[in-house]
Amino acid sequence: MLNNKLYIKTWGCQMNEYDSSKIADIMENKLNCKITTSIKDANILILNTCSIREKAQEKLFHQLGRWKILKKKNPEIIIGVGGCVASQEGKKILDRAYYVDIIFGPQTFHKLPKMIYKIRKFKKFLIDISFPKIEKFKFFPLTKTKNVSSFISIIEGCNKYCTYCIVPHTRGKEISRPYKDILLEIKNLSDQGVKEIHLLGQNVNSYKYIDKKNKKCYTFAKLLILISKIENIKRIRFTTSHPKDFSDELINVYQKIPKLVNFLHLPVQSGSDRILSLMKRRYSILEYTKIINKVRYIRPYIQISSDFIVGFPGETKSDFDDTISLILDLDLDMGFSFIYSPRPGTPASKMKDNINILEKKKRLYLLQHYITQQTKKFSLKMLNTIQIILVEGISPQNNKYFGKTENNRIVYFMSKINYIGKFINVKIIDSYIYSLYGEFISICNN
Ligand code: 5AD
Ligand code: SF4
Repeated sequence: MLNNKLYIKTWGCQMNEYDSSKIADIMENKLNCKITTSIKDANILILNTCSIREKAQEKLFHQLGRWKILKKKNPEIIIGVGGCVASQEGKKILDRAYYVDIIFGPQTFHKLPKMIYKIRKFKKFLIDISFPKIEKFKFFPLTKTKNVSSFISIIEGCNKYCTYCIVPHTRGKEISRPYKDILLEIKNLSDQGVKEIHLLGQNVNSYKYIDKKNKKCYTFAKLLILISKIENIKRIRFTTSHPKDFSDELINVYQKIPKLVNFLHLPVQSGSDRILSLMKRRYSILEYTKIINKVRYIRPYIQISSDFIVGFPGETKSDFDDTISLILDLDLDMGFSFIYSPRPGTPASKMKDNINILEKKKRLYLLQHYITQQTKKFSLKMLNTIQIILVEGISPQNNKYFGKTENNRIVYFMSKINYIGKFINVKIIDSYIYSLYGEFISICNN
């Protein structure tokens, strides 16, 4: 039997990173695959792609070109392309990269072990980019981890169809993972020492699972309450949520669950109602502001981060100014900002784009300037305060211990004692934009 050695290259968001970790788990479990970070040792190469922005296709063929050379030297190598570009392009990928063996989508990666077995047997190209009825979650083996903070996917796909976005086309319709499986997985993680859980999904707050046995509906708010009851899980984070589904029931959970961190990522995309409507975001700035105000009423010190798109077709200078005003008026803390990128087949890609690239770059630069000032301001405020961090490990960059604060800042500190997996109090002695330096003060009680 062949020794399977798998090398995975991942592009894109946390969701894709999570999918890749699951691919690794499944391949280890079913094919006894060893995971390698050295491509030279590998005989299975997987590229997990992302197509949300930029020139994803070009990037793909550049990467595959490099892998073609490896396959020429060793024809036994199997090349698989997965993720959103695979889902979007399908068999067309073969026109420019005939040597690819497997194409799979974000919802079919659990079939990889079978596909690899078949490829070896029949030496014939395989493709499966379907959105199967039996969701992939059912095939995930329980995760083995040494980490103290862990991601877990709770919902897949998206039904929102924002006019600029490719995700609903590549990842398919929303499917909520059964709440019992989520709780089991989190319990399994917590038994291995995980203290912080980060719930993932394109739209976590539209989570809805109806238990066929008791006909009960489990919303995201209810799920959070159940997770908070797992004793050794001390912190809960989630990304990404949509303002439209940010219900009062969810807002009230901030009162009920102190474990829910004082940090919320709630993408607004634009500060202009006109642009929000063209984006089909389904909320107004007033509604977005009301959500933030309600959450702040319960948690006055919660910090808010957001995503922004600049240069959406038809965005005027005044629309853009509204986005900057929103950042300042709502005193947002952090932001991820992007120049609008037309995605094939989306409604926005057919809209007239009348803003030149220089202007788009100028707007992006300005927005990033304002949001960075905000981040810096909040980080500076933390100077000389005592913060609680969960110690996650030693940083390969500076050899110092590091952990995260509730508000998502990395704190580095020196210590002769290993506190990994512990919550500790640190005094902040130096502040950079996204990271801080601290001094150990004491171990927390919990
Ligand atoms: N162009 C630019 N940014 C986009 N995003 C999603 N689609 C596009 C696009 N076509 C951004 C949004 C989203 C984040 C994950 O990526 O801001 O919240
Ligand atoms: Fe894309 Fe909108 Fe769905 Fe987010 S909510 S994944 S931006 S379609």
